[in-house]
Amino acid sequence: MEIRFAQEEELDRVNELRKQVNDLHVAGKPEVFKPGFCDELRNYVHAIYNDPEQRIAVAAEKGAICGFAVLHHIHKPENPFMYERDFLDIDEFCVDEAYRRQGVASAMIRFIRDFAKEQGYHRIELNMWEFNEGALAFYEAAGFTTFRRYMEMMI
Ligand SMILES: CC(C)(COP(=O)(O)OP(=O)(O)OC[C@H]1O[C@@H](n2cnc3c(N)ncnc32)[C@H](O)[C@@H]1OP(=O)(O)O)[C@@H](O)C(=O)NCCC(=O)NCCS
Repeated sequence: MEIRFAQEEELDRVNELRKQVNDLHVAGKPEVFKPGFCDELRNYVHAIYNDPEQRIAVAAEKGAICGFAVLHHIHKPENPFMYERDFLDIDEFCVDEAYRRQGVASAMIRFIRDFAKEQGYHRIELNMWEFNEGALAFYEAAGFTTFRRYMEMMI
């Protein structure tokens, strides 16, 4: 398996994986996420691809794209409350259903860590929805720890 950055002609396939994530979010949090995968969401992948602060990494198995990650460089200047922050955010992350539990996501995280180090970042961040127990189990197995929580109360 090969992990590398995506080529533009692979973005339609990346969108198939983005739709898998969207469907999962719709099923898990239907009051928040809109069903379907509209043109605006589909086209957004090109905005990501063309943004110099973002990179799309893909996993390819025998030429087939089976996973992707959107990597976003975030720089937040110092403010009265916080020091300057400069880190790599994993904005989107998915392995095709047919390829899960074969180490694809783990290989993508190794690639992302190497890339982050090479770029001089000292921290990788991501956020996820609490219902997504599989993702939490994976991220914890990969070495991520929770540093902040969003809480809610339905009324
Ligand atoms: C979460 C996800 C990326 C994991 O991808 P993957 O390629 O299957 O992960 P790996 O095979 O590298 O898993 C490594 C380890 O993580 C843990 N793990 C991964 N998926 C798990 C799951 N669903 N439940 C419990 N543990 C899990 C296991 O310890 C696993 O090792 P093992 O298979 O030897 O037991 C994949 O399930 C996925 O794409 N899910 C849908 C999209 C999503 O939730 N994205 C993230 C939030 S936006």
